[in-house]
Amino acid sequence: MQTIVLATQKGGSGKSTLAIGLAVAAIQAGHTVRLIETDPQGTLSNWQRRRARAEPIVEPIYSAGEIEQRLQSLDASGVTMTIVDTAGGVSAATTAAIRYADLCLIPARPSIADIEATVSTLDLIRAWKKPFAFVLNQTPIRGQRINTAATTLGDEAALDLADVLAQPFVVMRNDHQDALNAGLAVNEYAPGSKSADEIRGLWQWVEAKLSAFEPKSPAIVDAQPIVSELRASPDIDPAMFLRLPAETAAVVS
Ligand SMILES: Nc1ncnc2c1ncn2[C@@H]1O[C@H](COP(=O)(O)OP(=O)(O)OP(=O)(O)O)[C@@H](O)[C@H]1O
Ligand SMILES: [Mg+2]
Repeated sequence: MQTIVLATQKGGSGKSTLAIGLAVAAIQAGHTVRLIETDPQGTLSNWQRRRARAEPIVEPIYSAGEIEQRLQSLDASGVTMTIVDTAGGVSAATTAAIRYADLCLIPARPSIADIEATVSTLDLIRAWKKPFAFVLNQTPIRGQRINTAATTLGDEAALDLADVLAQPFVVMRNDHQDALNAGLAVNEYAPGSKSADEIRGLWQWVEAKLSAFEPKSPAIVDAQPIVSELRASPDIDPAMFLRLPAETAAVVS
């Protein structure tokens, strides 16, 4: 079994939305998937209540002490992919989940505040020497520009930023919110949409990452310079940092 943990201190960056999208993409790829929710806010449990389909099962686990045991029993029961959605902030449950992760995904909106807020999560991930990647979420539609930015950053950064910046970036689109309301993943709600394409692409990136890490142990990466590169890149349009998500949503329907 492989375990993916979505974590970042910043609220509203897309942990739950991406956990759902990746879980359904993993099912579509043939995995037996379990979603674990360590966030008492209950976004995933509420989503499952609105959902007509049984899979993926959502399991709320709020106690850090239960996580290891549960992951072991899921592994033994034939689950092949567990995706853990954590709460914003830094909690014992998040720390425990990161400890058992095969890959940590750090969603961040393309804003200085979101990117800076990743630092405490990165410190935890570094402490457990875990592989990780940023997922830029709720980006403006000017995807080409920011995709180019990622390539440029990857070329220029002393550390290979392309290796820790998942592709593609996930544009802000109403589909994601409508799918959540409907108890669906966006790849079920609007399978032919660009949003669904992006989530499928993200799943493929994650899948490739997971197989690249296995079975060798991951290299220790000092994340701090990566955050600085991301924050300081001249190729990331500064206008993105000024535009509020609601304004972006109005532009992209
Ligand atoms: N790419 C996107 N486009 C449009 N809306 C999005 C996108 N990603 C997430 N959202 C919306 O943004 C809001 C916050 O997302 P989500 O709940 O996934 O974040 P979170 O990181 O889990 O938040 P929290 O820290 O509160 O648990 C939700 O209403 C969700 O539907
Ligand atoms: Mg959430």
